[in-house]
Amino acid sequence: MAVQRTFSILKPDATERNLTGAINALIEKAGLRIVAQKRIRMTREQAETFYAVHKERPFFGELVDFMISGPVVVQVLEGENAVLNYRDVMGATDPSKAADGTIRKLHAKSIGENSVHGSDAPETAAIEIAQFFSGNEIVG
Ligand code: CMP
Repeated sequence: MAVQRTFSILKPDATERNLTGAINALIEKAGLRIVAQKRIRMTREQAETFYAVHKERPFFGELVDFMISGPVVVQVLEGENAVLNYRDVMGATDPSKAADGTIRKLHAKSIGENSVHGSDAPETAAIEIAQFFSGNEIVG
């Protein structure tokens, strides 16, 4: 299996509770390397573009409002099978369905305020990474 990159966001419910380090420890324990990271405040336009695929969903407005409600930490994670590995580390979108030991089981507050985002495929990862990082900000 080749080394892959995935895109991650630590969401406002996580930064608000000072969980960046705790979540990063789970990421690193899973063998993923944080090769880029920055704490930002997303603009409404950035959040709407990022989640454009969910535009028609009833929760779209709530999702965008939440993502701009506080700081987020955007990251690039690298490792073997990084996309699927990180999805396993995050756990199910709905924390009540997430497996024990996962980030969402341990920390998420609800299906909306679910602490982390991770890309769903390598192609999506490349698009999402390019939205927030230039090449020279990623140091593998
Ligand atoms: P994420 O992996 O960031 O991708 C889309 C997000 O939409 C998802 O995590 C959830 O935070 C959010 N989401 C999904 N379903 C719902 C829902 N039913 N109500 C509110 N937010 C949701």
